[in-house]
Amino acid sequence: MRKVLLLSVFSMALSACGASGGDNPVFLQTGGSGGGSGGGNSAPDVALPNSDQSAPVGHDFAYDATQGGQTFTDAQGDNMSFAVTFAPDNGDFTVAAGMITGRSSAPIDVAVTITANDGTQSSAADEFVIASDYDQDAIVAAFGGSIDLAALADYETITVPDFIRAPNDVASPVTNAGATLGRVLFYDTALSIDDTVSCSSCHQQASAFSDTQVVSNGVAGGVTGRHSMRLINTQWSDEAAFFWDERAVDLEDQVTDPIRDHNEHGFSGQDGRPNFDDLIVKLEAIDYYDELFAFTFGTPDITEERMQSALAQFVNSIVSFDSRFDEGRAQQPDIFQPFPNFTFDENEGKNIYMSGPADNGAGCRRCHADPEFSVFQDSGHIGVIGVAGDPSGTDFTNTRSPSLRDLFAPDGTANGPFMHDGSLATMRAVIDHYDAIPVPTTEPTRTEFMNSIDPQLVEFGTVERLNLTDIEKDQVEAFLRTLTGQTVYSDVKWSSPF
Ligand code: HEC
Ligand code: HEC
Repeated sequence: MRKVLLLSVFSMALSACGASGGDNPVFLQTGGSGGGSGGGNSAPDVALPNSDQSAPVGHDFAYDATQGGQTFTDAQGDNMSFAVTFAPDNGDFTVAAGMITGRSSAPIDVAVTITANDGTQSSAADEFVIASDYDQDAIVAAFGGSIDLAALADYETITVPDFIRAPNDVASPVTNAGATLGRVLFYDTALSIDDTVSCSSCHQQASAFSDTQVVSNGVAGGVTGRHSMRLINTQWSDEAAFFWDERAVDLEDQVTDPIRDHNEHGFSGQDGRPNFDDLIVKLEAIDYYDELFAFTFGTPDITEERMQSALAQFVNSIVSFDSRFDEGRAQQPDIFQPFPNFTFDENEGKNIYMSGPADNGAGCRRCHADPEFSVFQDSGHIGVIGVAGDPSGTDFTNTRSPSLRDLFAPDGTANGPFMHDGSLATMRAVIDHYDAIPVPTTEPTRTEFMNSIDPQLVEFGTVERLNLTDIEKDQVEAFLRTLTGQTVYSDVKWSSPF
């Protein structure tokens, strides 16, 4: 494929033809070396032709096309200057003094021409090819057809209904490459100390990325302190912090926390266990991570920051906006009109959900505002103060909820027991709880409870009572069931690639 062109130049006139070339002059082949501009000067020679180079997509590329000054020689010893052109020139590479740097963005061959000019308008050119392809042998070996760097799953195109209003200025915007890497990390048991646990152990697609167990099993018999949370529409939330008690300031901060957790992935560095640095060393030895990190970030280096970005991108890509609620809401100017696709009970349930207790409603909207159904930013606890696995324990710190979307799977089964301690097994139990929030009777628990409960639930010093009828409770539940989507349970881009 390599062509060597020996060029020299008709002076002057040709500069005019070179109008298209910018700072890359256009030279005309004269078929010999005798056409120089006189004075016995001869054009440079191609002494050491460049061989073709390869620049795997996504990897940083640097190559000196002068080969340290050996590509060209000049019989008169004239100082040479170099011009380099690319065909096609897709902006992937730039040049300074013959040094080509950049990063290939697509698997195409770029023809490179380097021209040496000896300052007397005499020149010679050498041509070679930078061939680009995907570096994914290990990815193909590990994942078969489920990941192809040349045809990534589409995570970037997220169709958001017009009526969605909550902010979503996430720190790690979803890219196809980042979310693909995040998917592998999310499902990889190599991220646990004994290769038994991955994020998906406790966040299962079939359960809207939650767990049907009250608490989840981690490494070596460890269990979680709280119930797992659904990971749905995390980009659209009135509450930016993560975990039931909001202890993670953002999603990036959150996603490597379970890896460091002694009971979850186990890289805690405690009791003789490996720590996060050990995990990085472990992942560095896995070939598909070499390829995936290089493809995603330009170099194969594995850092916690990169893992956080990729995992956050994958989690943020999990989007559910295809529920019957969304269908109905799209047909009305606001949420208060009856939805044509709803049953009578579903529309009644919607009204009860939206209205405050003073209007005989349940006031759910005060904290889980539509249409995201996330949670109000400054809420206190809601009277669920138990500790999973510790009947006498109390915990007043839980002020975040996952979005109330996808509380149920499409087949109608509940996506796990509800609340931070998994103490409410059914939706009726949840609604009964809000209807008559139990207040502890013993001190100091009672005072602590009253001091930390969300003030919206307290009226004139006592905790509100909703007094919903059985029918109204059924109607609220019927409405909540309309918030279940479809594709989030079935789209393979969110499933295990292994
Ligand atoms: C052993 C079970 C387990 C594993 C493994 C696990 N999680 Fe979780 N996850 C939980 C539990 C339990 C919570 C709630 C913990 C709390 O609030 O204290 C949670 C909470 C979260 C949240 C917060 C959601 C919200 O809306 O606030 C995110 C995000 C999350 N996990 C992502 C991940 C990722 C990413 C991984 C893998 C790196 C992972 N989890 C691994 C059990 C697990
Ligand atoms: C004062 C704010 C507030 C109000 C009002 C409120 N919630 Fe909640 N909701 C929360 C908080 C905070 C949590 C998490 C509590 C916990 O786990 O301890 C939560 C949790 C839930 C959960 C469990 C979510 C899960 O993933 O396990 C459901 C279901 C729920 N609320 C439904 C409702 C309904 C229905 C209403 C109206 C009857 C309502 N909420 C009213 C703040 C509120």
